[in-house]
Amino acid sequence: VEETRSKIYKNLISPDKKEPYQKMINLHTYNKCLSPSLTLASVAQTCEEVGFDSIDSYGDFKVSCDVSSLRNFEGIVAKKFGVKDSLFVVSGVMAQNIALKQYAVEKKKQRFLCHKTSHLLLHEHNAFDHLLNLEAVVIDTDEAMSFEDVSKALEGPGADEIGTVIIEVPQREIGSRVTSWDDLEKMSDLCKSKNIAFHLDGARIWEISPHFEDEGKSYADLVALFDSTYVSFYKGLGGITGAMLFGTETFIAASRIWLRRFGGNVFSLYPLVASCWEGFNKNVACNPTISFFQKRARMREIVELLSGDDQVNKVVTFDPPRPTCCITHVYIKCESNGDLEAANEFVKKTEQITVFNNLRPRKPGNSAQSYWEWNLGNENYHIRDEIILRGFRSLVSNLAKRQK
Ligand SMILES: Cc1ncc(COP(=O)(O)O)c(C=O)c1O
Repeated sequence: VEETRSKIYKNLISPDKKEPYQKMINLHTYNKCLSPSLTLASVAQTCEEVGFDSIDSYGDFKVSCDVSSLRNFEGIVAKKFGVKDSLFVVSGVMAQNIALKQYAVEKKKQRFLCHKTSHLLLHEHNAFDHLLNLEAVVIDTDEAMSFEDVSKALEGPGADEIGTVIIEVPQREIGSRVTSWDDLEKMSDLCKSKNIAFHLDGARIWEISPHFEDEGKSYADLVALFDSTYVSFYKGLGGITGAMLFGTETFIAASRIWLRRFGGNVFSLYPLVASCWEGFNKNVACNPTISFFQKRARMREIVELLSGDDQVNKVVTFDPPRPTCCITHVYIKCESNGDLEAANEFVKKTEQITVFNNLRPRKPGNSAQSYWEWNLGNENYHIRDEIILRGFRSLVSNLAKRQK
């Protein structure tokens, strides 16, 4: 790690700090941003390396793994998760709506239960309602969904109409908090006993895997608690875009039909699939240079460093205070997002450090703080403590001047 760090920083920073930096250091960007041509060149190399040699057509539904590179990739990922079959879907939005619709038809129940911060509620313009005529029953808590929340909701008014429980692990909107293993197990048993489908939104399953590995649980153990799971290949894994749906063979066979109905089995997907395969190999399957364990450990170190700095900790806090994985939410006391953005611009100009790329909209009911999501990946993992401290100190001191 030290060797890579010194390679990155060699000639970038003068030891006496008198020389200007030669390059902007970005604390926020976690995946490499290559040009389209370099990205595709890298994908082409992956095709050579993994033997990706067939062009898929309409999802290769009737083609076997030996002949179809797309089906081969689906099989490889399915094996990693200990499931029989899987389906590549171009987006998580489509994958999860396919799952929800299937369960609604199968169980003849239009309602699903989810947390108030579910992606389905906040970021999809209620596609489940407009397109699928489904209805959400919402668990209203600022904490990760617990067994108690679920069991209460399944006893509550309208519970008879709930056909699916969907849970996000980890829960992105609340700083990647995680439901405990015990609670997940109990939810799984309860859903089985009530003939309710249990679906996992595993958009960030790779990032949270160390949390479960600490408890001796593998990807396969986690996914086995659910009837179906969705995972993403572009967030922590850096693919161009792409998702996958897991479930029983019957569920996946039916999902292929629903994929067609959604118009999701586009004529050819191979550039996306090969890019996801590249991200999967580099970050999960083939001895990653930096593992998600290391990323989590470094994120925890950084949070400790900044929380322990008297200048920074007057206005900066982290949610949760100890990250569950390589993702955290950084909260900063300030009057408006505009002031903080202006301070960030100041730090860019004077220190050549970008502290954040973009702020998230301020939370209703929290008018005193702005925040951003900080994810530690291959690109920002090696940044030294001193640079991080310098960026944050400069940010908070400039912000203080603006708010006098
Ligand atoms: C928790 C969660 N679920 C689902 C999705 C949807 O994924 P996609 O962007 O591939 O449609 C996202 C995307 O950010 C997400 O964060």
